[in-house]
Amino acid sequence: MQPRILSGIQPSGSQHIGHLVGALDNFTHLQGQGEAFYMIADWHALTSKYESVAEVWPATLELTATYLAAGLDPQKATLFVQSLVKEHAELHLLLSMVTPLSWLERVPTYKEKLQNAVADLGSYGFLGYPLLQTADIIIYKANRVPVGEDQLFHLELAREVVRRFNFLYQREVFPEPEAVLTKTPKVPGLDGRKMSKSYGNCIYLRDSNADILEKCTRQMASDPARLRKTDPGNPDICPVFEFHKLFSDDATVELVNTECRRAGIGCFDCKKRVAEAMIRRIEPVREKIEAHLAQPQAIEAVLREGSARARAVAAETMADVRDAMRMPTL
Ligand code: TRP
Ligand code: SF4
Repeated sequence: MQPRILSGIQPSGSQHIGHLVGALDNFTHLQGQGEAFYMIADWHALTSKYESVAEVWPATLELTATYLAAGLDPQKATLFVQSLVKEHAELHLLLSMVTPLSWLERVPTYKEKLQNAVADLGSYGFLGYPLLQTADIIIYKANRVPVGEDQLFHLELAREVVRRFNFLYQREVFPEPEAVLTKTPKVPGLDGRKMSKSYGNCIYLRDSNADILEKCTRQMASDPARLRKTDPGNPDICPVFEFHKLFSDDATVELVNTECRRAGIGCFDCKKRVAEAMIRRIEPVREKIEAHLAQPQAIEAVLREGSARARAVAAETMADVRDAMRMPTL
């Protein structure tokens, strides 16, 4: 049997290189290996954007343009909008009846985000965030879910909910979904912490070449012990070297690795080379994003067709669910 693949991203801001290297490359790689569904999770975006709903649709178009620019192909994968497949909401509601509150309260991302959030996340919907994600996955009976490590707790919840549902209604309606982690190491932010919009340490896919150069040379953290150009540095603890390993060719990585240790290369020069390598990777993606965004009707057509296809699959699953739960069909 071909695997069913599902994943999604929230349209709650522009995408950065962490999305490209961490998620989108993995999505693209997997699209040929099974039946793939890639979603724009606009309802999930509402957990923080409920006061700024006008931003969500433009962000949906931008994320779709980014999916296409990164190599997702509507002929190979179904690209769709969560809110256009209302069945996700129905399944979320039914799952909410069988999911113990304590399972949601103990999800580690829940308390963490609640404490660090800018918007007030004390809502019912935010608590249910990972359960809506469960519905997103299992409504397609997906068994492979390409996600980052930060999503593993959500996948674990999905598996528990599947086991409970199948057990309660004595039917194997849903398979247990499995996370597919990317092999690429995590992209750090400019300051060495995790790359995140809320830390202001991102390189965005739509940043201009000049912005990328500026961010790399002026904001990127390097080995803090290397104060002067004549001091030897240690690439093993330097975030700049992490970027070289992700974006530079082997010869450059080798050069930095040896020259840094004997003070043969300065940090400014080293960062400039990283910027050039990143620009080589980002520039073609950016150009494609802009080209797609210039044709919003074409993006809408992709989403309209994809969402109709997704909806047909989701509706089939919901017929099984209603049957298993003895819901009337009048
Ligand atoms: N929670 C995911 C994120 O923040 C987005 C998401 C929503 C998702 N539904 C999903 C990911 C289903 C995988 C599968 O990135
Ligand atoms: Fe880091 Fe490069 Fe400076 Fe070495 S030369 S400390 S790797 S920025």
